Amino acid sequence: MLLKESVEALRVGPGGLWVDGTCGGGGHSEAILEASRPGGTLWACDQDGDAIEAATARLARFAGRFELRRMNFSGLAGWVKAGSATGVLYDLGVSSHQINTAARGFSFQMDGPLDMRMDGRGGPTAADLVNTWPAAELARVFWEYGDVRESRRIARAIESERASRPFETTGRLAGLIEKVCPRRGQKKHPATAPFMALRIAVNLELERLEEGLAGAMRMLAPGGRLAVITFHSIEDRMAKDFMRAEARDYDNPAGEPDVPELRIPRKPRAVLVTRRPVLPSAEELDANPRSRSAQLRVLEKTGD
Ligand SMILES: C[S@@+](CC[C@H](N)C(=O)[O-])C[C@H]1O[C@@H](n2cnc3c(N)ncnc32)[C@H](O)[C@@H]1O
Repeated sequence: MLLKESVEALRVGPGGLWVDGTCGGGGHSEAILEASRPGGTLWACDQDGDAIEAATARLARFAGRFELRRMNFSGLAGWVKAGSATGVLYDLGVSSHQINTAARGFSFQMDGPLDMRMDGRGGPTAADLVNTWPAAELARVFWEYGDVRESRRIARAIESERASRPFETTGRLAGLIEKVCPRRGQKKHPATAPFMALRIAVNLELERLEEGLAGAMRMLAPGGRLAVITFHSIEDRMAKDFMRAEARDYDNPAGEPDVPELRIPRKPRAVLVTRRPVLPSAEELDANPRSRSAQLRVLEKTGD
């Protein structure tokens, strides 16, 4: 999504070291390798083993010019040398492959195990959260990450249902949510937002994004660019606030609100390339309705 826009905004050209923190099926990585011919190198990662397999196959013709690692982008700065990257890309959220594979448990439209882990190697699944977290904590997740109005009612219904039989499948959870919040003719399934909220909690997506953004600033060479594609408002706000803070010419004392008299002046660490987010074109929206919530923001690290 926003493929042409992000490759252009990163100003990918011959040479350079490019970092793709979310290679997925390899679409953006492929475009970066094409545009950085000759001599460009790509280091890419994804936390999902299926993604690494798919990207390895798709990028095979660029052998020798790229490296792929299965890891969380929050740790990229431990792999890529500080100050070395020409551009860094994060295309956040889930891939179509993840959503369309019932066994991964992301979809409420297909019955599957209630899993939702992007990195399936360990850590709690969505079922673990749903079956063990206090109702108040589940309600907080639905409310804070999904803006779910009926968050408390859904959480209480989960608590009472799981007492007789723990939740194991996406279908049973989606069915319960639909019972608590009947559709009443609405197009959007009532489980959409609660499922997204659970996914964010299972994968610690906001915590990892915060680390990933800070890591990108360490990896970038002076003049290098960071492009972030987000899919929901919390992620977009995080990317926007982070970029604005990097572009400011002051810090606030730790823990203090922004009071002009208390500001500590410093040089800006970056400039904003996009003041407003770049949105998908009409053609992309036509071809792929899922792209409607995608937004691209870009910043450029200042020279030393
Ligand atoms: C929207 S898809 C990326 C699609 C990709 N740009 C392409 O062209 O095919 C998002 C991918 O990011 C991965 N991902 C999300 N958060 C991640 C993180 N914190 N660390 C590593 N990979 C992550 C997911 O596993 C998924 O494969």
